[in-house]
Amino acid sequence: MKDIGIAPSILAADFGYLMRDIKAVENNADYLHIDVMDGHYVNNISFGIPVIESIRKYTDMKFYTHLMITNPEKYIKAFADAGSDNITFHVECAEDPDSVIDSIKALGKSAGISVHPDTPIEKVFPYIGKVDIILVMTVYPGFGGQGYLESSDERLRKLRKAIDDQGADTIISVDGGVTKANIGHIYECGARLFVAGSSVFRAEDPAKAIDELKRCGTSS
Ligand code: DX5
Ligand code: ZN
Repeated sequence: MKDIGIAPSILAADFGYLMRDIKAVENNADYLHIDVMDGHYVNNISFGIPVIESIRKYTDMKFYTHLMITNPEKYIKAFADAGSDNITFHVECAEDPDSVIDSIKALGKSAGISVHPDTPIEKVFPYIGKVDIILVMTVYPGFGGQGYLESSDERLRKLRKAIDDQGADTIISVDGGVTKANIGHIYECGARLFVAGSSVFRAEDPAKAIDELKRCGTSS
């Protein structure tokens, strides 16, 4: 089970009991995935910096902040100061992704770049070896509870090959529609860090759901 990670997405948590839901996963999860949406890049608005600052006070979990926002360069410092450990932005949203990556790293944080399902996967190849995480969206960003897009398989395989060919240690992460039934297959396609919203927080026992996802991911 060593090279698989699970990052529960709090988008599927009950915001009225947010800290209770985070505590339910903190010992089993590898990261806490935090979806920030601005109503511009995606057709939804979630939450932002003050919420991250607040939850930071009550857990030592690694925060994997997924910025679904335009002009990410304007907000990197704020999200770093709020307590993010990783900051992931969309390749579609940055005019100069290299400088965004540099500013994340200059703040001592782990950097990630994410790619929309309609963007050619090759768009992120220049950042292999430069970022810590490449986040492949396996649903259309904006909402939880959608089904995994089958077209992601080929994209993941291409990215896996490109990373392996370079001997890079960049982690392939996936976000959207991950379930116990498909995680083994997605792992085979090359992903290693799985964001999971509904399949963790809508489960009766979220901690157990994480362990089961890990088991299903590496069992074949
Ligand atoms: C979608 C978000 C995801 C979402 C995943 O825009 O980036 O992180 O919470 O939710 P599920 O796992 O329910 O597809
Ligand atoms: Zn996300």
